[in-house]
Amino acid sequence: EGSLRDLADQRGVFMGTALASHRLNEAAYAQTAAAEFNSVTHENDLKWEAVQPQQGQYSWSGADRVVDFAEDNGQDVHGHTLVWHSQLPSWVSGGGFTADQLLDVMDDHISTTMGRYAGRIDTWDVVNEPIGDDARFRDSVFHRTLGEDFVAESLRMARAADPAAELYINDYSIDGVNAKSDAYYDLVVDLLDQGVPLDGIGFQSHLIVGQVPASMRQNIERFTDLGLKVRITELDIRMNVPASQADLERQADDYREVVTTCLEVDGCAGVTVWGVTDAYSWVPDHFDGQGAALPIDGSYQPKPAYWAVHEAL
Ligand code: XIL
Repeated sequence: EGSLRDLADQRGVFMGTALASHRLNEAAYAQTAAAEFNSVTHENDLKWEAVQPQQGQYSWSGADRVVDFAEDNGQDVHGHTLVWHSQLPSWVSGGGFTADQLLDVMDDHISTTMGRYAGRIDTWDVVNEPIGDDARFRDSVFHRTLGEDFVAESLRMARAADPAAELYINDYSIDGVNAKSDAYYDLVVDLLDQGVPLDGIGFQSHLIVGQVPASMRQNIERFTDLGLKVRITELDIRMNVPASQADLERQADDYREVVTTCLEVDGCAGVTVWGVTDAYSWVPDHFDGQGAALPIDGSYQPKPAYWAVHEAL
C-alpha cells in the first residue's frame, strides 16, 4: 500500500534519489522518480565541471532541469556538490592559483551556485570527500593550496552565500565506526569548536551486500549527539552480477537495516538512494563485475530490497 514517497512523507523523513537530467525525457524514469521519492539529488549536473566548465562561464541547463522537475513534482532538492577534488575542471585543478586566488575562485563558484538556487535548494554537500581512505586529508588542489582550512573556508563562504541553507560535509566509508569516520568526528568537533557553520554530515553509504557495518547506529548517534544532522546521501548496495536470489534477499535485509537504523535515530533526516533504476546505476561502470545495487531493477520492477524499504518505512 502506497509508494515509498507516501510512507516517507508520513514518517516525516526524506526518501530521495539521484537524477540525471538527460534521462528525464524517458517516461518510465520520470514517472518512477516522481512516484517513489520526495527528494532528489543531481547525480552529476550540479558538479563543478558541469556548472562552471570554464572560468566565469556558468552553464545551468542540466542543473535547472533537475530542479524544475523536482519543483513540478513537489520534491525537495539536495545540492551536490560545491568543493570536491573530482569532476573538477582542469582550469581549477591545474590553474596554478595562489591561495588568495583560489579562495576567490571558490567563493565565486559557491556564491554563484548557491545564490542561483537560494530558496529552492535548502541543503548542500558543501565539501565532498575531503578525507581519504587512509583517514588523512586527501591530496587536492584545495588541500595543497590552502591546507586543512579549505573545509572551514568553504563552509563560511556557503553560509554567507545562503544563510538559510543547511550545510553538510559528505563522504563514503564513514558509515560505521572506523578510522575514517573517527577522522571525521575529530574534524567536525574541531570545526564546531571554531564556530564554523556546519549543520550535518552525509554518509554516502555505497555498500557491499552483507556488509552493513554493525556500528552504523552508534556512528550516526555520535554525530547527532554533537547536534549535527546525519543524512544517508547516496545509498546503494552492490553485489556480483548476475545477481543470485540469495544476494537479492540479503540485499533486502541490508536495505531494511540501513533505513531502520536511520529512522531510529532522531537527527537522521532521511535516506537517498543513488539512482532510480539498476539500468542507469553508476556501479557497473565503476566496480568491475558488480551491479544490481538499487531497490528498483533495470525494468523498473521492485526488487526484494524495495519491499524491505517499504516495510521499514
Ligand atoms: C558518481 C556518478 O554516479 C557517476 O555518474 C559519475 O560518473 C561519477 O560520480 N561519490 C559521490 C558522487 O559523491 O558524486 C559519485 O557519483 C559517486 C561517489
